[in-house]
Amino acid sequence: MPYAKIIATGAFLPEKLVTNFDLEKFVDTTDEWIRTRTGIRERRISAPDEPSSVLAANALTDALDSIGMEKGELDYIIVATVTPDTMFPSTACWLQKHLHITHIPAVDVSAACSGFMYGLSMARAYIESGMYKTIAVIGVEELTKITNWEDRSTCVLFGDGAGAAILQATEDKEGGRILSNYLGADGRYGNLLMKEAEGTLHPATHETLDKGMHYITMEGQETFKHAVRVMKSASVEALKRAGLKEEDLDLVIPHQANIRIIDALANRLKVDYEKVQITIDRYANSSSATIPIALNEANRDGKIKSGDKILMVAFGGGLTWGSVVVRW
Ligand code: ACO
Repeated sequence: MPYAKIIATGAFLPEKLVTNFDLEKFVDTTDEWIRTRTGIRERRISAPDEPSSVLAANALTDALDSIGMEKGELDYIIVATVTPDTMFPSTACWLQKHLHITHIPAVDVSAACSGFMYGLSMARAYIESGMYKTIAVIGVEELTKITNWEDRSTCVLFGDGAGAAILQATEDKEGGRILSNYLGADGRYGNLLMKEAEGTLHPATHETLDKGMHYITMEGQETFKHAVRVMKSASVEALKRAGLKEEDLDLVIPHQANIRIIDALANRLKVDYEKVQITIDRYANSSSATIPIALNEANRDGKIKSGDKILMVAFGGGLTWGSVVVRW
């Protein structure tokens, strides 16, 4: 039976950097409030002519270049995003166009901040079934383009970016591979975190625009409570499926939504704080992109050694959640 191994990572962050102090100039907020409540110091913001597919293509190119792989070796492209270039075609298809990749399947996955966990799990299933051998999974998001800059309770939280992983089939059971994954969703809580208009429920009209229904809305405190609960249970379940304990972990890469959620997870898992990868201070919450960006950073910084056990865990709008345990 083939196993699925992550053989490369990559990332791309837009150039424009906006600090909390920059936000103070046009939002009724302070650096102190944002830092202490969320852990965010600055975020990246994509340019108007830089849609999600461009960020995703750059992240994938970075991953391919890091191992000298030709794009023609890819069998499948999965893009996790809730901020696609267009409702259709998918961002995965636009990415294909940018990179001149033709024929292989390309699809978007919509699971909000858990999207990269869903994408990795799909890629694992394809590879372990023997259907495909080499799959690129990209998490990309441009939440700042659907943010209401007059809503201080949400606009300070988000940033743009993309991260990529390339997975390949391996026969080596004892070597690096995905050991387990766990996914879940609970649609009863969909209203906690959403972009209400521009779908078939509320097609775009002057009224939806006037009411700001094309922006993200979030019930922060309720989302926070679910996040802490679900991040812990999803972590425990993936570890159990991998036959590992919390103390076996070398690195934890949580979704970067709020430093207080990450702290609560580290405490509940009793994991040493140095083993937790943090990027929220520099990139804020870029939804499905936070985990692949953080994974790439740990990988490129030499923080991950062969044989290390890594837990990635996310939750997001839907509600959705997911966790993946990897042996590197
Ligand atoms: N600057 C200054 N004050 C603010 C700001 C701001 N940017 N935003 C809110 N406040 C004020 C509020 O008006 C309120 O004032 P009041 O007491 O006078 O009414 C006060 O600060 C407290 O507001 P809360 O909403 O209670 O603040 P809280 O401590 O809950 O923090 C936050 C808000 C950061 C949003 C937190 O609830 C959170 O992180 N929630 C989870 C977010 C999350 O994980 N989202 C999921 C991922 S996103 C995705 O899936 C796309």
